Amino acid sequence: MKKKLMITSLIALFAIAPNLSFGQKAKKKLVKSAKTTAPAKPATGSLSKEIVEGKALLTKSDCLACHKLDVKLVGPAYNNVAQKYPATPGNYEQLAAKIIRGGAGVWGEVAMAPHSTLPMADAKKMVKYILSLR
Ligand code: HEC
Repeated sequence: MKKKLMITSLIALFAIAPNLSFGQKAKKKLVKSAKTTAPAKPATGSLSKEIVEGKALLTKSDCLACHKLDVKLVGPAYNNVAQKYPATPGNYEQLAAKIIRGGAGVWGEVAMAPHSTLPMADAKKMVKYILSLR
């Protein structure tokens, strides 16, 4: 029940987000949506599905013990991670590997715990969700 509510609010967030004005970012989004007016682009549809799955996976895992969306906790705020890394396949790959392996040095001296049993595919979905937060 709770999960359903969260998914619903995520969908609502995605519905509202493009209408919010974030200066340059809003412009970028506009350009993007203008480009995707051609119907049936499967990549866009499956990406948004993976983003929704990534959020659910992330919520079930231990991530939120150290990360918040907009405030630095033990780890960086996910907003800041999204600002640092554009949503590219290379960044999905690199950050998913970092989540699995753990490590420090990018945001400070504190290390992220490794998630060695986390499947790469799941880690990538989580990253897709995080990098969608810009
Ligand atoms: C024990 C606390 C902790 C947990 C649990 C944790 N993180 Fe982190 N995370 C950190 C810290 C600390 C950093 C900064 C590491 C650095 O500076 O290189 C970080 C960095 C990151 C980064 C950015 C990495 C980079 O190189 O810029 C991502 C993405 C991330 N975490 C995602 C996740 C996800 C997804 C999970 C859950 C599967 C998770 N974290 C769980 C503490 C944590």
